[in-house]
Amino acid sequence: MKKHKLAERVGQIAPFQVMAILARAKELASQGEDVIHLEIGEPDFVAVEGVADAGVLAIQQGKTGYTSATGLPELKCAISDYYRTRYQVEVSPERIIVTPGASGALLLMASLMVNPAEDVLMPDPCYPCNRHFLIQAGAKAKLVETNACNGFEMDLGALADNWSDSTAGLWLASPSNPTGAVLSRAYISEAWEKVRELGGHLLVDEIYQGLVYEGEDFSSLSIDDDIFVINSFSKYFAMTGWRLGWLVVPEWAIEGATKLAQNLYISAPSVSQHAAVRAFSPDVLAECEERRQTMNARRLILLEGLQEIGLPVVAPAHGAFYVYVDVSGVTQDAMAWCLALLEKEKVALTPGADFGIKDAHKYVRFAYTCDGPRLQEALARIARFIVS
Ligand SMILES: Cc1ncc(COP(=O)(O)O)c(C=O)c1O
Repeated sequence: MKKHKLAERVGQIAPFQVMAILARAKELASQGEDVIHLEIGEPDFVAVEGVADAGVLAIQQGKTGYTSATGLPELKCAISDYYRTRYQVEVSPERIIVTPGASGALLLMASLMVNPAEDVLMPDPCYPCNRHFLIQAGAKAKLVETNACNGFEMDLGALADNWSDSTAGLWLASPSNPTGAVLSRAYISEAWEKVRELGGHLLVDEIYQGLVYEGEDFSSLSIDDDIFVINSFSKYFAMTGWRLGWLVVPEWAIEGATKLAQNLYISAPSVSQHAAVRAFSPDVLAECEERRQTMNARRLILLEGLQEIGLPVVAPAHGAFYVYVDVSGVTQDAMAWCLALLEKEKVALTPGADFGIKDAHKYVRFAYTCDGPRLQEALARIARFIVS
């Protein structure tokens, strides 16, 4: 008799190594230790006041029922206006499918565009959950090796070599988690040209859009209407727990995406949607821009400080709030190094193994989600740890 048997796919999902770091960091904090958290991929800001107020008002007014599966019409219009005014691209509201976070959008995308037993190409390293969303769809990710000296960009010249009859498409992210790399318009255009020739789809995850400090902050939607794009209120708008994102699909995929959205999650959270309409007001956007500048100042502190302590950042970290650092000069095992650093100096980082395979043991991800003085303190502690 089979008892307590989980589905096989659960076994294919590797637990995150950072969970061990998080658990230990919590334990140390509960013992009164001063832990500096640079491991969490979440802004240390909350939703801008006007947005939070709009959420409260929605609750008070009882706007708490399901919405249409693809999202509140006024939110879809606000997102469409945002694309027009900020990114000079026309995206009809009908093409915007509002989802429970970018996570919901990725799940929707995997269900919409990938058949069981197919694979999707993505760079190594990349956002780890992508692989798991594909497993959920009965498919799998095929990680393509990259190099720090090329900014962790997948070599498009080798795309055809990595492509097979079972490849459904290519998933990219810009700015990237965990590297902070920003892809250029020329790169995305070339990727799209090649993917189209190969007969696949291209998805660009733009969840860190707006958090660009060097290079062009653009949307891949301005390259072609047939490119799929994901975004979210989690990062630029600092609304992680509001669980709201979106997927932009080509006209021909609207009906299929709508059907799936209705079945997978009925609708994204309605209170969050009412609040998010307010996110595109000039005062809110002005505050988000101020926060971007704050993030950039932190980035510069970190880049300079890492250089000083002998952990130079080889690949450009031009966006998001991450720096992906090669620690192979001081350790051959980034995970063990992260655990020892936490134990000794109470600084929490994420080991590279959570993001990829090739060279993952050499890398750690820093998230600059605490203020400048805390970053300086973290750098001083790491410097002490390296020489100890
Ligand atoms: C690249 C990338 N995509 C998607 C997500 C999921 O974000 P959310 O579901 O909060 O919108 C994250 C979260 O860190 C991410 O880094």
